Amino acid sequence: MDIKKVAVIGGGTMGNGIAHVFAMNGFKVNLIETQQEFADRAISTITKNLDRMVSKEKIDEAKRNDSLANISVHLDIADGVKEADLVVEAVPENLDIKKTVWQAIDKSAPGHAILGSNTSSISITKLAASTNRPEKFIGMHFFNPVPVMKLVEIVRGLETDDATYTAVEETSKKLNKIPVPVNDFPGFVSNRVLMPMINEAIFCVHEGVATAESVDEVMKLGMAHPMGPLRLADFIGLDVCLDILNVLYEGFKDSKYRPCPLLVKMVDAGKLGNKTGEGFYKY
Ligand code: 3HC
Repeated sequence: MDIKKVAVIGGGTMGNGIAHVFAMNGFKVNLIETQQEFADRAISTITKNLDRMVSKEKIDEAKRNDSLANISVHLDIADGVKEADLVVEAVPENLDIKKTVWQAIDKSAPGHAILGSNTSSISITKLAASTNRPEKFIGMHFFNPVPVMKLVEIVRGLETDDATYTAVEETSKKLNKIPVPVNDFPGFVSNRVLMPMINEAIFCVHEGVATAESVDEVMKLGMAHPMGPLRLADFIGLDVCLDILNVLYEGFKDSKYRPCPLLVKMVDAGKLGNKTGEGFYKY
């Protein structure tokens, strides 16, 4: 199936990055937000990131302008998805919100449209069941910052059919990304491996093994990670890390995924990382 028109639902950190890469690779993108103010913020972030790519000579001015021209903003799901070949949902990691959004998408997207969720850990099979086309439903999991990270983790739900998988695999390649197939289990592969590492790093601080700075230095200098696990947790959002750990903990009923009490306390205090100006570091 030839995907040309894409609807991206949600213009937050992940949604604006996803819209950016589709638009930059020639797809027509409808970016759907709930309020004009949020949509304006998303477009201004995309513009800033495209400008940075121009200044680093990764793209030229014409490509920047074409990319922006490929994006149109919509404030209504029905209107935004009605001609889409592919819908990518990147709304907050909350099952009830996602289900409501998917029911609205399912009502208005064309019958041939593929439905992809950028969820970082919620069951694809469960989200697919809130639509009438679970065979066309798939996980399309991008990584932050989306314009930079090469991976798309493609998650097959219980009923995802081969045609859907192949179309999403081919589309990911057209975005200059590398698709990696995984099956639908809590946290998929990425967050099942990443989050226990971040949680253990938080336990090191919690138990006084080392400061946040020292934990990060160990992992950067000793393991060649581009950023330490605590800086990365701030970058992802401590609330997002906690939500994902809870999905792992509930999903496997295994205490090895229990969130560190320090993480819970920081989220309770509203110290969520970069987005609130403070987490393990101040921004
Ligand atoms: N858009 C476009 N380009 C961007 C960008 C953006 N939003 N953010 C960074 N860049 C580019 C920069 O222009 C720079 O390009 P250059 O190499 O040509 O100079 C390059 O990325 C590196 O950026 P910086 O020089 O500003 O900074 P760093 O070298 O410190 O790299 C980083 C920043 C790319 C974020 C790097 O630290 C990194 O890779 N960190 C790990 C990120 C990671 O692990 N992400 C996954 C998070 S998990 C996730 O998303 C899944 C979810 O489910 C939780």
